Amino acid sequence: MKNLVDIYRIDNFIDTFALGHYARVLEAQDKRNGQIVAFKVMRPEHLAADGEPRWEYRAFANEADLLMRLTDSPHTVNLIDCGYVSGENEAPISGDIESFGRDVIGFSQGMEKFSNRGWRPYLALENLPRNENLFYQMRPDKPGLRLRLPTEEGLALALQFAEMLKLAHANSVAYLDHKLEHVYWDGIHFRLIDFNSSRLVDPKQADSEQLICNDIHSLCVGILYSIFTGLSPQKTALRPQPGSVNDVDARYQDVNSLDFGVEPTLSPALEALLQRGATRQITTAEDFIKGLHEVASLHGWDFPGSYTSPISRDVRTQMRAGIAKMRRGQDQLREARDLFREAAIQDEITDDLEAELRRLVKSVNDMLQNRVIP
Ligand SMILES: Nc1ncnc2c1ncn2[C@@H]1O[C@H](COP(=O)(O)OP(=O)(O)O)[C@@H](O)[C@H]1O
Ligand SMILES: [Mg+2]
Repeated sequence: MKNLVDIYRIDNFIDTFALGHYARVLEAQDKRNGQIVAFKVMRPEHLAADGEPRWEYRAFANEADLLMRLTDSPHTVNLIDCGYVSGENEAPISGDIESFGRDVIGFSQGMEKFSNRGWRPYLALENLPRNENLFYQMRPDKPGLRLRLPTEEGLALALQFAEMLKLAHANSVAYLDHKLEHVYWDGIHFRLIDFNSSRLVDPKQADSEQLICNDIHSLCVGILYSIFTGLSPQKTALRPQPGSVNDVDARYQDVNSLDFGVEPTLSPALEALLQRGATRQITTAEDFIKGLHEVASLHGWDFPGSYTSPISRDVRTQMRAGIAKMRRGQDQLREARDLFREAAIQDEITDDLEAELRRLVKSVNDMLQNRVIP
């Protein structure tokens, strides 16, 4: 047992745009090595008066265990440390800490003891940049704005996600908690967080095939439909998805048809594939990957066994170069806007300068509203 402040400097909440049911998440610095981490700590309301660890408490050991089983995947967030903290402050800025590092077995075995003491479990995770969170990128806070990923990027994300599920399923893990809030995307790499609603599936158990199939269904309905249309699968504008254990099971249960009416130019083959996922006709990650390969080959991708004409291949290369330039261009627009904004709030500048700077900020913001990439 140590003083928390000797091990972590706890900074701001970083989850405010997408609150979770189990945890609060804060930026923190591990003072042992200087590393900045995402400190995911159980919400105090899940502590039980009788000291018995509730479902939410147990979910932390479950998440740590599943993350360690999937460390081979480049797509799952890295677990850096886990343990328990004393105190009931939502933000644990003082009190005591027991840190287990990556000793997930010791962490799990300590559960009853620390729960009885009224301590809360935490996981220190690799800190992923907020502006790569897909829910954040799609700007659900802006009414009337509907953004979508370019098909090229969406296909790349779908393939990486499907490969991750393939590896998870091969390790008997079903992810289950599909929502944009849990996906990070920088235009090239896909990363996934929040495995506390995920489950170990025993291939011998009757419902294992159904859980695996649910994973494909939820990926198609809960993630891919949204990234290609900018809508929630419930056909509303994007909104946060509820996250308790019952919500995770029920969230997309009734969604078995997808309406692509808002995106008339979307590839019919892609729509058909996602629709097959929505009707639960795709039962394994392998089958889904096969389907994605067929769709992607219509978009200039090359795979062994699926033909793309040389001209389509070249055109895809050109399109990718264009998309990369768009991303750089949008980044530069944001940087320019920030320069104008910072300048506009300097004390003692003339009204004339301030008015011009504010006009520039607004003008760039209007341009960014109509951006091509979320
Ligand atoms: N590793 C991370 N890096 C950056 N932000 C994170 C990280 N993990 C979680 N968050 C933020 O905190 C929010 C809640 O985390 P999550 O793991 O989904 O908690 P819960 O299990 O309560 O749903 C996420 O939506 C995200 O905004
Ligand atoms: Mg969550």
